[in-house]
Amino acid sequence: MSDLFDKLATSEPREALGEGAVLLRGYALSEAPALLSALDQLVSQAPFRHMVTPGGYAMSVAMTNCGAAGWVTDRSGYRYDAIDPHTGRPWPVMPACFAGLATAAAETAGYPGFDPDACLINRYAPGARLSLHQDRNELDLAHPIVSVSLGLPATFQFGGMKRSDPVRRIGLRHGDVAVWGGPSRLRFHGVAELKDGHHEVLGRQRINLTFRVAF
Ligand code: SIN
Ligand code: FE2
Repeated sequence: MSDLFDKLATSEPREALGEGAVLLRGYALSEAPALLSALDQLVSQAPFRHMVTPGGYAMSVAMTNCGAAGWVTDRSGYRYDAIDPHTGRPWPVMPACFAGLATAAAETAGYPGFDPDACLINRYAPGARLSLHQDRNELDLAHPIVSVSLGLPATFQFGGMKRSDPVRRIGLRHGDVAVWGGPSRLRFHGVAELKDGHHEVLGRQRINLTFRVAF
């Protein structure tokens, strides 16, 4: 029975996640090869690294950024920074295929004119997880978040406005794009511990691109 529900759920390309929040199944599939080759380029300029939380823990998710603003965390807190603290240089320019996909997905989700200046790139190895959080370091919360999944499947946790609110678990697969904004912009979300597996393109990893208007 659950297999049947899974099939029904995945045959519909657009799933409502809540008011102002939608999952576009497979939306990035045709662009994935272009995204991944652009990613190779920019990772050679700004490598993945395990950032440290303000509490002093190394994150299990490895991160890098591209665009005018990059999200960083260290002992002093979370912030956006135009300079990569690891290289001392500006973050790599956001590739046109990244920005184009994000703008198109946002428009499809009901947010025309989305022009991201930040793309946080998350790399999950098996066992990595991202605990429940809100994306709230951006200056203007009127813009949505656009999140692209590539590689191994993951379980996205989509909660409410309070950390203690019930959490919905949603399977995210290669090529899926989630967009949340408006009344859902500050909903808590996270990613459950990544299960081991092998993805035909990316092997034993999941990559997530999260687009924001930060500055
Ligand atoms: C994030 O919240 O920054 C990442 C979400 C994800 O990896 O799907
Ligand atoms: Fe987030």
